[in-house]
Amino acid sequence: MKINYHNVTRLCHTRRILSVNGQFPGPPLIAREGDQVVVKVNNHVSNNVTIHWHGVRQLRSGWADGPAYITQCPIQTGQSYTYNFTLTGQRGTLLWHAHISWLRATIYGPIIILPRRNESYPFQKPYKEVPIMFGEWFNVNPEAIINQALQTGGGPNVSDSYCINGLPGPLYNCSKKDTFKLKVKPGKTYLLRFINAALNDELFFSIANHTLTVVEADAVYVKPFDTDILLIAPGQTTNVLLKTKPDFPNATFLMAARPYFTGSGTFDNSTTAGILKYKHPSNNIKKLPLFKPTLPAINATGFVANFTRKFRSLANSQFPANVPQTVDRKFFFTVGLGSNPCPSNTTCQGPNGTKFAASVNNVSFALPSVALLQAHFFGQANGIYTSDFPEQPLTPFNYTGSPPNNTMVTNGTKALVLSFNTSVELVLQDTSINGAESHPLHLHGFNFFVVGQGFGNYDPTKDPANFNLKDPVERNTAGVPAGGWLAIRFLADNPGVWFMHCHLDVHTSWGLRMPWIVLDGPQPNQKLPPPPSDLPKC
Ligand code: C2O
Repeated sequence: MKINYHNVTRLCHTRRILSVNGQFPGPPLIAREGDQVVVKVNNHVSNNVTIHWHGVRQLRSGWADGPAYITQCPIQTGQSYTYNFTLTGQRGTLLWHAHISWLRATIYGPIIILPRRNESYPFQKPYKEVPIMFGEWFNVNPEAIINQALQTGGGPNVSDSYCINGLPGPLYNCSKKDTFKLKVKPGKTYLLRFINAALNDELFFSIANHTLTVVEADAVYVKPFDTDILLIAPGQTTNVLLKTKPDFPNATFLMAARPYFTGSGTFDNSTTAGILKYKHPSNNIKKLPLFKPTLPAINATGFVANFTRKFRSLANSQFPANVPQTVDRKFFFTVGLGSNPCPSNTTCQGPNGTKFAASVNNVSFALPSVALLQAHFFGQANGIYTSDFPEQPLTPFNYTGSPPNNTMVTNGTKALVLSFNTSVELVLQDTSINGAESHPLHLHGFNFFVVGQGFGNYDPTKDPANFNLKDPVERNTAGVPAGGWLAIRFLADNPGVWFMHCHLDVHTSWGLRMPWIVLDGPQPNQKLPPPPSDLPKC
């Protein structure tokens, strides 16, 4: 992969963007389960860059994970780094993206892991497979926007459009020709591989007059279910089957995506659209008018809760759900927005004139100046990070329907250390009251099982009785519901340093992120090997 500059025009604005191989969005990585993947990334731009293989388990290959200052120092201008990892036990759709600052805005692409050669899908063989990637387009450099968000302490300026495969679509000004078109034949089954690479918004998606059958999420098969509308958070992937109508005249159907965003209303709520077009062999058939889909209202928290509950692991003998049935360590984390004192000489736009921040257990994570994984591996934590990440919130949290009055955060570079093969239960409690959006929490290095979710306060005496330990969905990114909680379980069987963060980039930048350190196990095959010789230096 060459990271280079590339001129792109959208919405009548031409901008020199950072790209991979001069493509926007970037090229797909297509491989099979079990393949070893070797990608040399050459940096030909003036920004520092890293690439993350989002959702790839990276079993004992943490040096190839990619988050800047967590597993590696960035690849500097003129330098290169070779990512080397094996795709074990996963098949389906994931994504790769830049993992430094907001460079994911333009540096992203699909990862398609096909089943092993002699294996087939546990659903009808599709006639065709189509990746559909959501993203955002900025008329200005997104780096300028992040700096504004961090310095003024206000919300970020929003992107200028959402996109489908890099195209904003016909509902935006000056964008008609930049519309994604999917041409289909009647009576066929298409596998659509949805990826949300947008920076800051969960999206609703629908195709007029068509039902979608969800078959996979985050590269794990699920029990198939039908829906007219998808919700997909940044970092999530969803495979669906689309059965086209058996025989249909010359018709076009609009497909559309729009943010599920609640809260202040200062965010963009416009819609990206594409066209599903039936190819009829005859041209003289009368053209029907464009059919349009309906999407849930903005702030449709009830829809979101129902939709996310529909996801269940396949949990059969071929694809079992290895849900940890017992737990070694339980953690309770609050996640949400908070505030920092406003620096002097600045006007801050956060609550009561403070500066917006975001935290996990009231700790706003500060990135170190060298990579944590190196510091950990070589026993050089001193001055880089501390291992005292709080196991409970620093400020006790109680949902009363109004925002907690103490949302001040402390800054720190704190990690939470687990011994090898610890079975972990983690309850994530959202503190953003008054209907802000959910936080799509992403865990690197693992899939986790979503064993429970609910609104209001998590109740440790009652809620665990309702946990699903049989067929919970297994994924790498799941939304902590607005004003609610999410309970997950995972087995810490992968030694290394693993980032966990909100996949809304503005929340990550504000500090809603923390690292887990998983220690080596006693056996040789339970240890992280030493780093490759070309690992970038800071
Ligand atoms: Cu998709 Cu830490 O990222």
